[in-house]
Amino acid sequence: MKLRILTILAVVVSGVGMTVVYQAAASLDGTKPPHAVDTAGKAIPESSASQPDKPFILSKDSADPKWGEMKPEMAFDHSKHNTDAKHTIDGKTPTACVYCHHTEQPMPVAGQPYLKKSERTEVLTTDQLDKSKQPVNSCRKCHFQEASEETAEFPPKGVTYPKEVGKSPSGKLTNDNAYHTKCIDCHNAAMKRDPTLKAPQACADCHVKK
Ligand code: HEC
Ligand code: HEC
Ligand code: HEC
Ligand code: HEC
Repeated sequence: MKLRILTILAVVVSGVGMTVVYQAAASLDGTKPPHAVDTAGKAIPESSASQPDKPFILSKDSADPKWGEMKPEMAFDHSKHNTDAKHTIDGKTPTACVYCHHTEQPMPVAGQPYLKKSERTEVLTTDQLDKSKQPVNSCRKCHFQEASEETAEFPPKGVTYPKEVGKSPSGKLTNDNAYHTKCIDCHNAAMKRDPTLKAPQACADCHVKK
């Protein structure tokens, strides 16, 4: 009798344990709660084969005591960043999808020997996406938040750039580091080229101060 109660207890306890682990794992990808929501209130899923058609507010789930989500006027406009010449690094060359979605291409990539992780056998373009219907993964699927429990693989431990890139090693690629590097490097370069542009560079340009 005693043994039976103990067994039931053990099953219940391990069940509760599993639920906790499951919930923790589910939150890592920024979907529970969502890390990004578009201006119509729709959450950015873990992966999707449709490009976001409305601007979206990132960092909704910020756990930082000082810096909260993106300001409403700093919603990320995916369409403009892909079609508008002003939103490019040099004012003319369209930004390749894989400039941001770096895992959506075969490896190795010329000039970027530090990139290793590949999730697509062809280079992602609008056409490739339409034909293949292979979903694109959210950055947050791999670039976890600082407070998250780490796996052997994610968040990536960091990369060392070749000398000619002239940047110091990245350090651990949590979400803040990954997005900041990708977004702000280009904003800094664009503002240097044309100071009349409005590419956000400072913490308070992008984040709501808590
Ligand atoms: C300036 C950077 C940037 C460029 C360039 C870019 N994207 Fe994105 N894309 C993003 C971000 C950021 C997200 C939101 C995912 C996230 O926050 O994790 C996203 C989301 C997506 C999604 C939805 C993924 C999901 O999780 O729901 C698809 C599909 C997509 N992009 C396709 C493309 C294609 C195709 C191109 C080229 C035509 C492209 N992207 C160019 C930054 C970019
Ligand atoms: C499937 C997992 C995965 C996804 C999705 C992913 N990354 Fe990464 N990221 C990595 C890994 C792993 C590395 C380390 C280099 C490598 O092994 O390829 C890395 C490296 C980086 C780096 C440092 C290298 C560099 O180019 O400066 C940045 C910045 C970065 N990611 C930003 C992003 C952004 C922004 C997105 C979404 C648009 C994204 N990552 C999506 C796994 C991922
Ligand atoms: C390849 C270059 C490039 C990358 C990568 C890039 N941006 Fe931009 N972004 C720009 C430029 C240039 C502007 C200024 C456009 C203007 O003044 O008309 C801009 C403007 C913006 C603005 C102001 C509103 C708007 O749409 O004009 C926001 C917000 C923004 N970017 C967020 C981001 C975020 C978040 C990321 C990373 C996911 C990112 N950007 C990545 C080039 C880039
Ligand atoms: C171009 C806009 C932009 C600028 C400028 C910027 N950030 Fe961010 N920040 C982001 C984005 C985008 C994310 C990650 C979004 C996500 O995970 O949904 C982020 C994430 C973060 C996080 C992680 C929060 C969490 O718990 O997930 C912190 C902390 C942070 N930023 C602080 C800063 C500080 C400090 C500065 C100034 C030194 C700064 N940011 C400048 C866009 C920006």
